[in-house]
This record gives sequence, structure tokens and C-alpha cells, in this order.
Amino acid sequence: MYYSKQFILSFSFLLSLPIIFFIFIAPHVFPSPPTESLIPISDEISDQTLFSSAAASSTSLSHLSSGYPNPKLKIAFLFLTNSDLHFSPIWEKFFSNHPKSLYNVYVHADPFVNITRPQKDSVFANAFISNAKRTARASPTLISATRRLLATAFLDDPANTYFAVLSQYCVPLHSFGYVYASLLESPTFDKTDPDPNPGLRGVRVVYRTFIELISDEPRLWKRYNARGRYAMLPEVPFEKFRVGSQFFVMTRRHALLTIKDRVLWRKFKLPCYRSDACYPEEHYFPTLLNMKDPEGCTGYTLTQVNWTGTVKGHPYTYRPKEVVPELIKRLRRSSHSGSYLFARKFTPDCLKPLLAIADSVIFRD
Ligand SMILES: *[C@@H]1O[C@H](CO)[C@@H](O)[C@H](O)[C@H]1NC(C)=O
Ligand SMILES: *[C@@H]1O[C@H](CO)[C@@H](O)[C@H](O)[C@H]1NC(C)=O
Repeated sequence: MYYSKQFILSFSFLLSLPIIFFIFIAPHVFPSPPTESLIPISDEISDQTLFSSAAASSTSLSHLSSGYPNPKLKIAFLFLTNSDLHFSPIWEKFFSNHPKSLYNVYVHADPFVNITRPQKDSVFANAFISNAKRTARASPTLISATRRLLATAFLDDPANTYFAVLSQYCVPLHSFGYVYASLLESPTFDKTDPDPNPGLRGVRVVYRTFIELISDEPRLWKRYNARGRYAMLPEVPFEKFRVGSQFFVMTRRHALLTIKDRVLWRKFKLPCYRSDACYPEEHYFPTLLNMKDPEGCTGYTLTQVNWTGTVKGHPYTYRPKEVVPELIKRLRRSSHSGSYLFARKFTPDCLKPLLAIADSVIFRD
């Protein structure tokens, strides 16, 4: 009796092993490809409403070409942050003494983070967009946040011509005047421009988006399969898949194209099953533009970043003692353009040394 009870116990234990394996262990070892987006449906709907009205505005606003007296072209500065804007004092200095007719500022701040609101007289005071939503690393929420910024800025001002996406860790490497002239006026700033001839009144005729469209990255295949082996097909074949920095400077035409996209978003919003290969925001924008208009892109970025000694997907972060005039000069050097315009990342306590060299180095150009 005793033995048989023992036998039944061990037998049922052995029997339960495969059950334990399939229910509790196998899903972690062999995850099935996720097929559902984790983005709340209410967020999807409110975004789609915003994107649709931005897209609709592009067809109704024809005053730019119908005799409106020479509207000034503007740069929209889009800050994507999930913390305080550590370098806002240096950005304030960057914008100071330049007329609001040349730029706009928009901030997407994660509403689930306690962020210090700027002073009333700050350029950031009325810049926080009201439709901001939760963001998380290694998730498509960073794509949504960027598209929300693009759509809000697109709708807000038809004079927004270039859209520069920045983070709270970005700093300017030049004065506003230099940045404005480089993007909107200079025929020589983009050394890769196939048609550098200036148009009427010295204003450039063709604007291109400054974004990387990298295809020879060793981890690209792993990143492509992060949602499952066939998850991106048929809309996104591997040959079209690209990687690039999420910090780009985009033309108005491409902003509209990005706002209108639904096909690629349906793929990129799927969650990854491997988080170490999940950086959707580094792939969505380069892949979309590579598929729709590669000639309209420069293929390089204007935001300098140091990837030597990268840790867990974070680039090298400069510390206060490294902030010297020589660093700024080194960070500006680019083989594709006249100069890099922005740089990341800096620890928040770099603010003081950066401010100390702002007038004498950063804004002197
Ligand atoms: C948010 O930050 C402010 C200022 O630092 C602080 O007074 C407040 O208690 C914080 N609120 C929360 C919910 O953490
Ligand atoms: C990039 O980071 C490395 C450390 O990983 C540092 O030695 C190097 O000086 C940095 N490059 C620049 C241009 O600052």
C-alpha cells in the first residue's frame, strides 16, 4: 500500500513535468510571435484623429502658394522628453534675440513623469503639447510620441518647414543663426547635395531630410526579426529595412508622409519578444523614408553622438570635466555637412560648464 502510494505520487509528478514545461517554461524559452499591439486602443484612436486632421489640413491650406505675402520659413524644434529639460537654459540662450517668426518650439513630455514646468517667460512655457502620452524605452510609444510632435507642429503652423527632433540630452553646437542659415539658405552646407544651386533670393529650392538610412549594420537581421521571423512581411521586406538615429531633421513634405502612414505603423507597433533587439524608433522613420523617398534624404544625421564604448544601447555620455572648447570643436566636425548642429548625450550637471562657454565658443560661429 505504502509503495503503491509512493509510486502514484512520483508517477503523477513525472506526468506533470511536461505540463509544467509547456505552461510555465516553454512560453519564455520559445515565445510565440506577438500579434497584438500593447498600445491602448484609446491612444490609437486619439492619435489617428490628430494625424487625420493634420493630413487634411495639408490639402486645405493653399495660402502659401496663393499670394500670401512671403511667409517666413520656420524651423520647428521638437523636444521628446521623459524628464526635466536639463539644458533648457542653454536652449533659451540659443533662441534669445531671434524673432518668433523664424522658429517654433514643441515639447512632448511623458505625462506620467513629474516634470518641472518652465517659467512663464521661457520659450518652453507654452510649448508642452497637450496630447502627450506615456512613453517607454524599447517600445513603439517613442514612434507615436514623435509622430504626435510632428503632427502637432505640422497643424500648428504652415510655415514650419523643417522639423528637428531632439531630446533632453541634446545641446546645440552652434548659434540659432548658423542653424537657420545651414538648413534653409546655405547652398554649400550639405556636402552631399546633388543639386546645390540656390533658387530665387538665395533660398534653397529642394530641401532634404537629414536622417541616416543605414543598411550595413551587423545587428540589422536580429532587429528585423525582433517581432518574429515573418512578422514584418509582406509590407517590409528585409532589403528595405533600415536603421538610423531617432534624432533627425525632417522636411515638411516628409513630416506629412510620416503622419499619413498607416501601413508600416501596423507592423512597427507590434511588441518585440526580444527586448535586446527592440528599438522601433531607430527603424520606423529610416525604413519608411527609405521605402518612400530615399532621394529626398541625405543619409546622415546632424546630431553628433559618440557610440564608442556604448553600454546597453546608450551612447557615451559626456561629463562636466570633459566640457571644454576643444570638445565642442571636435563634436562639430562632420564629413557630410559643414558641421554637426546638435550633440548628445551630456549628463545634466554639464549645464554649468556648457553655459560658461556658450557665448565664447558654442554661439560664436
Ligand atoms: C513633483 O515635483 C514637485 C517639485 O519638485 C514636488 O513638489 C511634488 O511633490 C512632486 N509631485 C509628485 C507627485 O511627485
Ligand atoms: C567618445 O567616447 C570615448 C569613450 O568611450 C572617448 O574616449 C572619446 O574621446 C569620445 N570621442 C569624442 C569625439 O569625444
